[in-house]
Amino acid sequence: MSGIIVVGSQWGDEGKGKVVDVFSAQADYVVRYQGGANAGHTLVVNGVKTVLHLVPSGILHSKTVCVIAAGVVLDIEEVVSEIRALREAGLIANSEQLRISDQCTVLLSHHRKLDQAREKAAGHEKIGTTGRGIGPAYEDRASRQAILFGDLFDQTTLKDKLKASIVETNFLLKEYYKTEPVELEELYKRLLELTEELAPYRAKDASMLVHKALKGGKKVLFEGAQGTMLDLLHGSYPFVTSSSTISGSACIGSGIGPNSVQKIIGITKAYTTRVGSGPFPTEIHGPLGERIRIEGHEFGATTGRPRRCGWLDLVAMKYAIRVNGITNLALMKLDVLSGHEKIEVCTSYKLDGQEIKDMPTSTADLVRVEPVYRALTGWNDDITQVRSIQDLPQAARDYIQFIGNELATPIDVVSVGPGREQTLWIKPLFN
Ligand code: GDP
Ligand code: IMO
Ligand code: MG
Repeated sequence: MSGIIVVGSQWGDEGKGKVVDVFSAQADYVVRYQGGANAGHTLVVNGVKTVLHLVPSGILHSKTVCVIAAGVVLDIEEVVSEIRALREAGLIANSEQLRISDQCTVLLSHHRKLDQAREKAAGHEKIGTTGRGIGPAYEDRASRQAILFGDLFDQTTLKDKLKASIVETNFLLKEYYKTEPVELEELYKRLLELTEELAPYRAKDASMLVHKALKGGKKVLFEGAQGTMLDLLHGSYPFVTSSSTISGSACIGSGIGPNSVQKIIGITKAYTTRVGSGPFPTEIHGPLGERIRIEGHEFGATTGRPRRCGWLDLVAMKYAIRVNGITNLALMKLDVLSGHEKIEVCTSYKLDGQEIKDMPTSTADLVRVEPVYRALTGWNDDITQVRSIQDLPQAARDYIQFIGNELATPIDVVSVGPGREQTLWIKPLFN
């Protein structure tokens, strides 16, 4: 089978969008399987930047079919505005390029309002969500109150479903958070307008579509959103998102069996970033962290918030390799580390004076760990114009080799800039 999962191995924003865009030149299908418009995936082609939140990152390739699968919480306003912008740019000329599962959870304004009201009320205790309504939408799915994408096309039942779906949230908004509820008639009218625009992209059974593609030997990429440490079950709870972000979620979210997967590629920044609250053992405070933020343009693609920056954390990486079953790595943003005399890499933690090599399961412990670093020699040269691994400075090659050896996982791709051409291949993508 020819399925490849692309998964974020850190706290998100590793460069998944760039990788999926580059890989899509060789893929027939790209499937987004979880998360929602909390994701911000950036593609840079000939200097032109496209930021996608819901539409899969294969969309710039006209021959690649992009699928939004059941596991996604589909923000109807956002997906329509993304489709409009892409169409204005001359893309998605054919609606067969974008297929949306009938089983996606529909995300509406009441979800966004509740997310934002909760964060506001939490004050310093907030999660630091993107405010995109992700938690409330997944809650509705789990409590069986959600509207599914397919429901939008049955107008005899839609209004009743919408009413049932907003009633509890409206109560919370009005009575508990003392904020404006959503208005049923207004929302219903808006939903009908947006449904009409989305009708051409309706896949109905997207699981069957992907299954047939895999069975027919087509090359299928599964595009993850967020990152391992934001996983609802295996991340630093409660400072996580509300979906499963690890590779197993690709099967669940798309409705395909694990035996369809050939490779799991962990997308890894050459350093680490995190947006929002929660533990981050290798975070660098002060001027050095600020320097990486500026040189790496580390500002959120969804919210514009400054990303917290720190050194590469191999303890967290080993955890990510384990829980995802990562078979290969793509090392991103190596160019951002140019010009440092020393580059530190965290190889273990100290917890209560004891050295530990595995991620603690308790978030309270993760808050308390102290990173143990190994300092590697840096390099000065600008590497953004380098086009093959051999042409990288020796110290940069040593850095790559050190990471690959420590993680006992092959690094197949190295990225030295946001552009497609700034991609150095060590091994081909599809066998
Ligand atoms: P994603 O959420 O994992 O898709 O990542 P984001 O798009 O949120 O953030 C990654 C940022 O780094 C984007 O602005 C990309 O254009 C940029 N980027 C990706 N790869 C590289 C690289 O190798 N070098 C540099 N300098 N920027 C990169
Ligand atoms: P991509 O796909 C980085 C973070 C938020 C917050 C937590 C919960 O671009 O890598 P949510 O809105 O999901 O309820 O927020 O998760 N978060 C991300 N951080 N990259 C993302 O996506 C993220 N999506 C959510 O900052 O800490
Ligand atoms: Mg992002």
